[in-house]
Amino acid sequence: MSMQNIWAPRTSAVEVLELELDGEVRPAGGAMGAYVRGIDLSDVGPSELQQIQMLLHRYKAVMFRGQSPELSIEQYVEFGSKLGELAVDPFVEPPFSEHPQVMGLVREAQDTTYNFGGDWHSDGSYLERPGGLTVLWGSDVPPYGGDTLFANLELAWASLSPAYREMLAGRRCRHAATGLGTRVPITRKGDYASVNFGAGQEVVEHYHPICRTHPDTNGQSLFLNQAYSVQIEGCTEDESAGILRFLFDWSATPAMTVRMVWEPDTILIWDNRNTAHYAVADYGGFRREMYRLAVTGERPI
Ligand code: SIN
Repeated sequence: MSMQNIWAPRTSAVEVLELELDGEVRPAGGAMGAYVRGIDLSDVGPSELQQIQMLLHRYKAVMFRGQSPELSIEQYVEFGSKLGELAVDPFVEPPFSEHPQVMGLVREAQDTTYNFGGDWHSDGSYLERPGGLTVLWGSDVPPYGGDTLFANLELAWASLSPAYREMLAGRRCRHAATGLGTRVPITRKGDYASVNFGAGQEVVEHYHPICRTHPDTNGQSLFLNQAYSVQIEGCTEDESAGILRFLFDWSATPAMTVRMVWEPDTILIWDNRNTAHYAVADYGGFRREMYRLAVTGERPI
């Protein structure tokens, strides 16, 4: 198997043209990501759901612009539940008791502490069944800044040399919510001013394959992330730390990432099975209010 050249064109001009023909889909970058107009998520039926799935398979993270400014939490949850079973986060207290699946990520203009998600991660990768899809509604977004960065972990896997892939294939890594390798461990609750962490302090951890296969597309990903992947099974801590450091840096190679830019009335959906993301904290002085839903995924294989 040859190594994928990430600098070579991957999408044919015809494919891009077809997708953009009616001006509804605009790729956000060469690695992944797209902006879409013309789909009202508060009113989706089977054909729109199929379109959304197709877009996610193709682009991995999709921002749906032009949602109703009147969108209610009820409509939002109803939409999310059409994508699959919604999970309740084990660490964060929900802002609405009647909708425990909704996580509130609110950062006030005066906050100076860490912002939630400010490190490369795939949501809940420490869980036995990590989040499949994540839905994020930007209900109050800063005029600039506060973008969400994404890394395409399929590109990260494919562009490693065959020898390196062979070394990793079949191996597992421990993912833990303490985040040994992270700059912002999730248990440092006091560092986040605006996210309401619950009482649970227990460490949640699971082993997952380093090369993960997507259940729908069979795409293979480097399923590791800086926040939660802590040790490669069978390696010493030192050996593992060196390999993981290289792989975290590799997956954040700029040509394998994209910067998704928020605008008002936007809902973002991404696939956690083959991406990592990073919430950029560059909007000090502005408020950012997001509501997140996690669609439960399967046990990684
Ligand atoms: C997250 O990490 O789940 C949130 C991303 C963001 O706030 O942009």
